[in-house]
Amino acid sequence: MKRLSLTLLGLLMIFTIVLSACGTTPTSAPAQPTAPQEASQPTNPPSQPSGGKQQVEVFSWWTGGGEAAGLEAMIKVFKAQYPDIEFINAAVAGGAGTNARAVLASRLQAGDPPDSWQGHAGQELIGTYVAGNQIQPLNDLYESEGWLEVMPETLIPLISQDGKIYSVPVNIHRANVLWYNPKILKENNINVPTTIDEWFAAMDTLKAAGVTPLALGEQWTKMHLLETVLLGTLGPDAYNGLWNGKTDWGSPEVKVALQNFAKLLTYANSDSASLSWQDASQLVVNGDAAFNVMGDWAEGYFRELGKTPQVDYGWAPVPGTAGTFQFLSDSFVLAAGAPHPDGAIAWLKIAGSKAGQEAFNPVKGSICARIDCDKSLFGEYLQSAMNDWATNTVVGSLTHGVVANDSWKSEIDTALGLFVQNGDVDAFQAALVAACKSSGPCK
Ligand code: GAL
Repeated sequence: MKRLSLTLLGLLMIFTIVLSACGTTPTSAPAQPTAPQEASQPTNPPSQPSGGKQQVEVFSWWTGGGEAAGLEAMIKVFKAQYPDIEFINAAVAGGAGTNARAVLASRLQAGDPPDSWQGHAGQELIGTYVAGNQIQPLNDLYESEGWLEVMPETLIPLISQDGKIYSVPVNIHRANVLWYNPKILKENNINVPTTIDEWFAAMDTLKAAGVTPLALGEQWTKMHLLETVLLGTLGPDAYNGLWNGKTDWGSPEVKVALQNFAKLLTYANSDSASLSWQDASQLVVNGDAAFNVMGDWAEGYFRELGKTPQVDYGWAPVPGTAGTFQFLSDSFVLAAGAPHPDGAIAWLKIAGSKAGQEAFNPVKGSICARIDCDKSLFGEYLQSAMNDWATNTVVGSLTHGVVANDSWKSEIDTALGLFVQNGDVDAFQAALVAACKSSGPCK
């Protein structure tokens, strides 16, 4: 039953995303102002700790590298609006939430939730926190704040179940970005590659010239690379099919994608396992590697480092993915049993507000989830991302919670970890087939 509803949700997601690709641009079409189905004010008593000062504890994994700065910018807006509420920043370090999500899970299990936490729109939110009754619906807040008018209609199904809306999206990130060092490419007479074969050829040239072709980091950054290569090899329709059961994980096409991935790994730095995403991205802007595939939070980091767009770094869709925007969205939730519900609601109001999103996103390296942010506040890269979000085919990210529930993702991660050790493409493919059968929609 649970499997069925997850599958249906998955189909709804894909359908909605495809619809957006067929002309309903996410940034131009306001959401239908359908009436919220159920009143959903939090039922907990207001938060008044013994000292009389209200609080809110907000949990995320934004502790550095452009991410903390973005969060701080939004906290500043919060503090200006709610000077009497103490903000407790409970961020836990580690890119993509690898550490934070484990800490969060044990806190939730122990009945000690933070008031609000960062949860990705899509299967992570629905399949974990909603399924586990760990968060509260926010329909009343959507109504009082008018958010159905300003949030992209493509996002609403990814944060909803049975008519209840469960989170407040703060941004849209792009996963399929190829960052490159323009100087290194120029010195080696290399054009920015648009196909995977061109990319291989470019990296052969770089390797021969003694340059590290591809900067790579710890395990989750390899999953991130894998999802973009699946997209670049299969195209958006077949990529979507991986998540709704229509594309056979055992097919020859998927095998080619995995072979491409295997080949890409041969161009990477040998110390990838010990590098964070920031370490890896930094290799490119420091001139120590030519390419890096990373979400556009890397741009927030490059700016924090004082690097200049088009000089220290350039960007392009990952080869083979032009015209497709592989997205994810950070959103904030209200914990079931939040210790400080008033503080949490105040935080969510800022997270969903124009002022909050305009402060946060230009620094974080993301575009607003809201459709009414002032474009001129954003730099050149993010303005190009806004255009692409509005015009490209939109598909979801695996690594960042959109397309697969946590158990499926974790099985893929285990298979990937083994593959990185043994390089056996056939065994990897067989494990991916098995993962789709046990936790995904494959029969
Ligand atoms: C993602 C998250 C981004 C960024 C990234 C790297 O999962 O959605 O906002 O934080 O991890 O840490």
